[in-house]
Amino acid sequence: MAWNEKKARAAIAAFALDDAAMARAADAFREEIERGLAGGASSLRLLPSYLSMPSREERGVFLALDFGGTNVRAERVRLAGGGRYETEARAARPLAVPGAYNHMDGSETADGLFGFLAELVGELLAGGRAAPYRLGHTFSFPSAQDSPRDARLLAWTKEIAVRGVEGERVNALLAKALAARGLANVTPAAILNDTTAALLAAGYRWGGTAVGAIWATGFNACYLEPERGGAPPMVRNLEAGGFRRLAQNAYDRALDAASEKPGAQRLEKMVSGRYLGHLFSLALGDILDTRLPPLSGADVSAAARGEAGETLARLCGAPLSPERADAARSLAAALVVRAARLAAAAFAGTLRHRADGGKIPPQRIAVEGSFFAHTPLARDALNSALRTLLGEEAAGVEAVPLDGGASLGAAIAAAMTA
Ligand code: BGC
Repeated sequence: MAWNEKKARAAIAAFALDDAAMARAADAFREEIERGLAGGASSLRLLPSYLSMPSREERGVFLALDFGGTNVRAERVRLAGGGRYETEARAARPLAVPGAYNHMDGSETADGLFGFLAELVGELLAGGRAAPYRLGHTFSFPSAQDSPRDARLLAWTKEIAVRGVEGERVNALLAKALAARGLANVTPAAILNDTTAALLAAGYRWGGTAVGAIWATGFNACYLEPERGGAPPMVRNLEAGGFRRLAQNAYDRALDAASEKPGAQRLEKMVSGRYLGHLFSLALGDILDTRLPPLSGADVSAAARGEAGETLARLCGAPLSPERADAARSLAAALVVRAARLAAAAFAGTLRHRADGGKIPPQRIAVEGSFFAHTPLARDALNSALRTLLGEEAAGVEAVPLDGGASLGAAIAAAMTA
């Protein structure tokens, strides 16, 4: 395959985001938060969770279901208070296995999907089907709530397309599927976004955290909206992936046009692992003047670390020369760095909103997700962009990886709603 040097340089340049554009994005992000809170038009959703931060004294044994990416996980978690917890049992299953089953595409129904989830939960019941359990459900899609107990799915994201779920109450569907399998002793007692779960988990374990984010298959953030005008403090899911006030390049536009929902999730399509893999194969395909199959977020992480030699050799039909391998690494790095700078803009806008003109206190931003955890460049670029955006104000502000927040946060929410 012919490697076009000029196109390779142009592709790398197409993913650059300079300091001025990044600062504009941070300002626009804050503006969108404030417009949304005031009830005006905004590309952020600011969905209320009806949860505030845990007291750190939550205790008991709870079930947790984590549904939101390509793998579904269920856990039995013991909260011991004071930030301590223990996972007593776990079960996990992919949503789709090529050639075997697919619970995420347009051929699946609500009954099929929720039956699959209920069976996974059933694997965790130590005391059989008699002991009562409260279950916290981390459901990582934009949903409307009027209590922490149930949520209506607004729209699927991350290319999931199961029929009959958009517009429905998700925990009610789960409760029905559990009862149909003889598991009526399990009560779906709380539902929360994965960003909220990460923030609750960080609050329980570390304290002093007010912004939580996911950087994995998808990308999103939430924050604790402080008490204002008598309204109690509440975690709000920003659905940050929907942020629109960003310039797209030709690859962003091509990816969007070919996606399940063209026009939606503009920021997520520039940041999250799933879409970075697609952008990487689109740009490489352009350089090689061919169509390549989509790569994964893990491929982009590996390529940015200079460890994707075999994958690239397979795609290109032969090992790349050292110069081309270096250009492929720079391309992956450019994708990761742009994504990190956009994530930093979202965080900086959120911190400025919270501080409301005052000083931003030192704090950790909890970032959960495989992409962030496995891409050291993402962490470095994100924290250095935060320093660029916030200068002096950023002393003591750091984005740090969090692990296991989805299940821990779900258990905490089940305890908080007891
Ligand atoms: C969803 C969010 C979720 C994020 C991370 C996005 O596609 O819209 O609700 O938090 O993915 O899982």
